[in-house]
Amino acid sequence: MWSSPRAMPSSWSNLVCLLVAFSYLFTPIPKSRLRRLRLRRRTHLGRPYALHADTISFKDGQLQGTILKSLDDGAESVRLPLTVSFLASGAARERYNEVEKLAIVGGTTLDKEAKVTSQDAHGLVVQYGATQYEAHVKFDPFSVDFKRDGVSQVKFNDKGWLNVEHWRAKVDKPEPEKKEGEENNESAAPPEGDKGVDESTWWDETFGGNTDSKTRGPESVALDITFSGYSHVFGIPSHATSLSLKETRGREEGHYSEPYRMYNLDVFEYILDSPMTLYGSIPLMHAHRKDSTVAVFWLNAAETWVDVTKHKNAANPNALGAHDRTSTSTHWISESGLLDFALGYHQCRWNYVSDDDVKDVNRKMDKAGMPYDVIWLDIEYTEEKKYFTFDKDMFVDPIGMGETLDKEGRKLVTIIDPHIKNTNDYPVVAELKDKDLAVKNKEAKIFDGWCWPGSSHWIDSFNPAAIDWWKSLFKYSSFLGTRENTFVWNDMNEPSVFNGPETTMPKDNLHHGDWEHRDVHNLMGMTFHNATYQALLSRKSGELRRPFVLTRAFYAGSQRFGAMWTGDNQASWEHLGAAVPMILSQGIAGFPFAGADVGGFFGNPDIDLQTRWYQSGAFYPFFRGHAHIDARRREPYLAPEPHKTIIASALRLRYSLLPAWYTAFFHAHRDGSPIVRPMYWTHPSEEAGFAVDDQLFVGSTGLLVKPVVEKDKVTADIYIPDDEVYYDYFTYDTLPTKKAQTLTVDAPLEHIPILMRGGHIFPRRDTPRRSSALQRFDDYTLVISGQYIYRRFALEGDAITSVDAEGRAAKSVRPGAWMKQMKDVAVDKIVIVGAPASWDTKEVEVTSAGKTWTAPVKYVKGKGSKTSFAVVGRVGAAIGEDFTVKVL
Ligand code: GLC
Repeated sequence: MWSSPRAMPSSWSNLVCLLVAFSYLFTPIPKSRLRRLRLRRRTHLGRPYALHADTISFKDGQLQGTILKSLDDGAESVRLPLTVSFLASGAARERYNEVEKLAIVGGTTLDKEAKVTSQDAHGLVVQYGATQYEAHVKFDPFSVDFKRDGVSQVKFNDKGWLNVEHWRAKVDKPEPEKKEGEENNESAAPPEGDKGVDESTWWDETFGGNTDSKTRGPESVALDITFSGYSHVFGIPSHATSLSLKETRGREEGHYSEPYRMYNLDVFEYILDSPMTLYGSIPLMHAHRKDSTVAVFWLNAAETWVDVTKHKNAANPNALGAHDRTSTSTHWISESGLLDFALGYHQCRWNYVSDDDVKDVNRKMDKAGMPYDVIWLDIEYTEEKKYFTFDKDMFVDPIGMGETLDKEGRKLVTIIDPHIKNTNDYPVVAELKDKDLAVKNKEAKIFDGWCWPGSSHWIDSFNPAAIDWWKSLFKYSSFLGTRENTFVWNDMNEPSVFNGPETTMPKDNLHHGDWEHRDVHNLMGMTFHNATYQALLSRKSGELRRPFVLTRAFYAGSQRFGAMWTGDNQASWEHLGAAVPMILSQGIAGFPFAGADVGGFFGNPDIDLQTRWYQSGAFYPFFRGHAHIDARRREPYLAPEPHKTIIASALRLRYSLLPAWYTAFFHAHRDGSPIVRPMYWTHPSEEAGFAVDDQLFVGSTGLLVKPVVEKDKVTADIYIPDDEVYYDYFTYDTLPTKKAQTLTVDAPLEHIPILMRGGHIFPRRDTPRRSSALQRFDDYTLVISGQYIYRRFALEGDAITSVDAEGRAAKSVRPGAWMKQMKDVAVDKIVIVGAPASWDTKEVEVTSAGKTWTAPVKYVKGKGSKTSFAVVGRVGAAIGEDFTVKVL
């Protein structure tokens, strides 16, 4: 909203109603300082921010003006330029900045029709988004109330907690005298400046033994955002907490005592049910109520804290809809201003130790009838942690290993981290130094820290020249031992620095363009992920490929480059339970390709836990088994019976549903819809489901899954969100469901509770294969290599039809090689669960491509809870052609 009145990396922000972006740059807030910033909201000195009416102009969808911030002594005020952009999408926001360049692509067209509809001495009203939206701007104190159809939705600075730390010149003051025996103690009461202002942390700050030098002084930004009449807020991953976010203040049970923190870190053994920060951050929050959803996107890559509190609105009859409802207030504080193979099962551990080990696992998975697509190499494959090399003694023939995997269409993923070993005989580090592409310390010298290889330097992936160099390292002629079926895992990119403050980089480190690390911290993981993605795209000129890169750290926008996982979890039932809400939260924040280490990273799961984890993992968008180097080997074929068979069934279930997963991924790619969906998202008007976060729908398939995540549990309680008919996935039984009630189903160890919601059709492939690549030409395919078949199937009474889902005429699609191969791929079987009696027939008529023929039908009449179903066999219509199946 304001840019700081000084010539430095600018700070800015963005307002959006129904999509709010607000950005700044800041300095770190250790807890003592955070406490003071939180306190400010109560003691706020007279709400000192006023929009100066004489400075306001409005043109082409943009409101500009100057905010005057009065200082405590009343003598002077600081001028903060304000720009609010009203977007055609009905959102409001502000001007471009570095974070935005990296995080936002498109969708920011200004609403040129927006206009000021009234103005007086106290404020003005802007109407935008074809009159549906209004922003009521109050001048003094400055606040904005965003309304839709006349009803308040989101209020900025309603409570007056806005705080923008303005630039100050440093005035050297005499050192306060230290009392005898007094240490530099960060928890000690801060010294107060002349006017009662705490200046102790303005210019440097010591925290956990590290001193952060702040040459630019304090730059923090804070704002209160109230969601009127909304009692649930979601999002701002990643936290190991419930999907509907808990309150962070007050002493009531279930409230946290600290705000949600977003500061990408390499956390060791993370705590569950906590607002502590994890590996990645997406500062996007949804507020949802029965009839409406709004969102705030806080476009800021610095350390950020968010408080959440809820309160009942006063019963004000004029409050137009919001009275008598609970509202949620949030307080944001920042410190300075595709995919095919990837959907199958991934087999990982730290580490597969040799090429023979890899080939052995590959063979044993096949022998056990366990499909998988990708095997992973963790850091030990390298020669002494030098990325882009293979340990020559252990990986004697990496190309041969890649070829073996390729025979069954399988892939290899190798880990490449952002720290580059600082050693003499390593050309990669020599180039990094010679080309001057590494992150610098505060003295503008190359930064040296510790990570897996010991002493290391970090590629500055903010620098375009560094990305170009990074690309050169992935050429087939440089990264020797890798082939077309090699892909990459980026880890430790928060970045993790073992000897740095909070195991990350000092905030006063410097990046390309002279940005301080504090300003861009949460973006760093994404820039590295992006560099690797670009590198995979350009391994060889003319090669068309879909890169796959897994990342641990992330930010808004990271979803464009690959998948994420929830980091180092534990082999415990609690961690199994925590994974689903975390993955759901990723989906609603726009990064849906998410998973958790199946089996748990640290420790050894007992066999029931491992089995349940496979059943749950089969419904994570990213499905990978992984284990710590000290954990016992636990490849799924090592499981004893009956667990081995149960795990194999879970893997096969995943593979049979791959076409459905693929469709869900396609929708996510097109419109950002979550791949696995929480109840509040699929049923936005059913309040009873808003807090439910232990069950999910798979895309738009209507498959409702409730993984069992408790020890010895043999039943599952499934919340039913609507009055549709629900069938059991495995038996086709009609279930006695009732809207908003819980259905208890049997769930012995061998059973995954899955319901099919009536009214959906989803594709499936029932022939078991070793990998997804080998399913490619089985009957039914939706998307492959650029061209795609996207059909809409419908059942109306006695007829089933298939038409192009996008209304494309068959002849308008010029077939490429893949489409030509697909010509003979047909629909083989159609299963109609709950088929009416009219399907009790022996034959149906199939019409397609100008021909008509008959196909046999088997009808099984239902009884009691068993529903009737019909199976049409040998349909024979080409999957890419329109067809009709009719009861004669
Ligand atoms: C980190 C990763 C973990 C990996 C290990 C070694 O802890 O989170 O998945 O196995 O580093 O690379």
